[in-house]
Amino acid sequence: MRKLIVVVGSINLDLVGNAERVPLPGETLTGRSFSTFPGGKGANQAVGVARLGYPVSMVGKVGDDSFGSALRGALRKAGVNVKAVGTVRGSSGVALINIGDDGQNNIVVVPGANEKLLPKDITRASAVLRTAEMFLTQLEIPLITMETLAVFAHKNKIPLMLDPAPARELPKGLLQCATWITPNESETRILCGLSANEPVTPATAARCAELLLERGPKNVLIKMGSQGVFLATGGGTREMIPAFAVKAVDSTAAGDAFNAGFAVSLLSGAAPVQAARYASAVAAISVTRVGAQPSMPTAREVERFLNSQ
Ligand code: RIB
Repeated sequence: MRKLIVVVGSINLDLVGNAERVPLPGETLTGRSFSTFPGGKGANQAVGVARLGYPVSMVGKVGDDSFGSALRGALRKAGVNVKAVGTVRGSSGVALINIGDDGQNNIVVVPGANEKLLPKDITRASAVLRTAEMFLTQLEIPLITMETLAVFAHKNKIPLMLDPAPARELPKGLLQCATWITPNESETRILCGLSANEPVTPATAARCAELLLERGPKNVLIKMGSQGVFLATGGGTREMIPAFAVKAVDSTAAGDAFNAGFAVSLLSGAAPVQAARYASAVAAISVTRVGAQPSMPTAREVERFLNSQ
């Protein structure tokens, strides 16, 4: 039986400034430290899967700058197959990230090479794509490429987990091809037309999950940070799975850690509720560590964490 997750998505270098808190609009703060980490929602999810010991290939693009070779090297070192990671002229994707002492962040992504991942690259990678058990994808690559992947997934009956981040209006066809959609709170607000500061409570999440299910995705997971995750499946499960209480130092890539953990656990035979609990543990560990890819735990670390709860 085939055993492979394929991630189609972004690869970024994260430029991270730490300060007392995330700055307000128009405000300048003096930071405490600066670091760079390999990141990008796609690459983070691929590394998350690899650290958990599951076979994974990445389809993406880096630039021909010095960041590009470092980013490809980080993926390879983590155990991700990078044969379908191409190099294009110009700069690699970068993310400018501010992190406050409470672990909260805000991010500006400049796509660079990620913008050059085109439908023809999906066609080119079709041999590896056809061998996948599941696709993980996000919205940091062109929408037309996502749509091409979604059609491929539908035609080949391969489940597609869509992380709608960063949030934007999504075409109906894409939503209808998603087996799982996994918005966080702010993405849920945008997708479901809530106001920018409306709190996403479990009741709100339950309402939004129904709305999303009506639009086509077969299953919904709403990631609600320290509140937990709301699961709604096409099979009728409706459950709020609480988050593990940990001291967060950096929430960057917590959502990516969750998606990686959920996919691995589900494909290893867990039911969705158990997979969501496992994924919550993966995300909880990731927020106790700095950096995007460096924060992804191994399967043994997750097992120890779960045993300690
Ligand atoms: O999800 C976190 C990621 O978002 C960061 O690593 C950054 O690169 C942006 O893509």
